[in-house]
Amino acid sequence: MQKLKIIVTGADGQLGRSIQHIAPAFDGYEFIFLSRAGLQVNDEAAVNAFFEKSMPGFCINCAAYTAVDAAETHVEEAFSVNAGGAGILAAACARYHVKLIHISTDYVFNGRSSIPYLPGSNTDPVSIYGLSKAKGEELVMAAGPATVIIRTSWVYSEYGKNFVKTMLRLMTEREQVNVVNDQTGAPTYAADLAGAIMRIVEAGAQHAGIYHYSNEGCITWYQLALAIKELTGSGCQINPIPSSEYPTPAKRPSFSLLDTAAITGSYGIQMLPWKQSLETCIRNILAWRI
Ligand SMILES: NC(=O)c1ccc[n+]([C@@H]2O[C@H](COP(=O)([O-])OP(=O)(O)OC[C@H]3O[C@@H](n4cnc5c(N)ncnc54)[C@H](OP(=O)(O)O)[C@@H]3O)[C@@H](O)[C@H]2O)c1
Repeated sequence: MQKLKIIVTGADGQLGRSIQHIAPAFDGYEFIFLSRAGLQVNDEAAVNAFFEKSMPGFCINCAAYTAVDAAETHVEEAFSVNAGGAGILAAACARYHVKLIHISTDYVFNGRSSIPYLPGSNTDPVSIYGLSKAKGEELVMAAGPATVIIRTSWVYSEYGKNFVKTMLRLMTEREQVNVVNDQTGAPTYAADLAGAIMRIVEAGAQHAGIYHYSNEGCITWYQLALAIKELTGSGCQINPIPSSEYPTPAKRPSFSLLDTAAITGSYGIQMLPWKQSLETCIRNILAWRI
């Protein structure tokens, strides 16, 4: 029997590589992993030609312009990938009857809420990155109904650059590290998100719509850094600071906790506690020496 083809765009990023890592456990599918060099999602002709040739059953869009601060000055590039590229992929998925799982972000919210954001909460991004991702969601939803959009937050993994890996490095290089303590949310281990995405694939992505996914819990970046210190036994001192003492080109929402109940209700996906997943990832980073 022919296997269902799944194309994964942005496959060399954190989430793409995490899906690559678990793919061998899903041998009922044929995965086609496409790095940016393999397929630029904002190249309409290339996307259409690829869909025409390969006829996938699923597309998981992990491609994105994720440099939040650089996006403030690379507006066109951020919109081209995060909005234009998402729209192009969604249109191709609609044309070729391909189910799309598109990844979005907690940065579509303004952070002024005091309760977790629901999938239906109003978006109001405070950065160019957030605006470009919100526009991407809009274009994806306009292109066709058979789409699952998953908003996630504070993604880290064994791969690429992320907060956890940066902290691990800084804690060996410095005696003290300052970390902001007034941005609240939940971290997401990309391996857990990859597993959740495959669960949605296995369910045929039958419940279209917007979903939220992060690990369970509610912390600040400072608390995340403290946990990394504790789990590694580092002697580095972690100092809590307000965001005003760590100015960045892009504004971040001060509160971006996502309400994840819908993804549990529709797909039976359970979140792991953030500290448990953090421990797994740190163990891997140290064991794999990456
Ligand atoms: N990282 C986070 O904290 C975070 C938080 C919330 C939501 N998200 C969302 O989660 C998803 C996955 O994020 P991630 O952390 O895995 O990001 P990532 O590590 O930056 O990976 C994104 C990948 O997309 C590729 N890419 C960039 N432009 C492309 C294009 N035009 N065509 C095809 N591929 C392109 C990048 O290639 P190059 O490396 O060559 O540029 C990179 O490999 C994204 O949708 C992101 O917006 C991430």
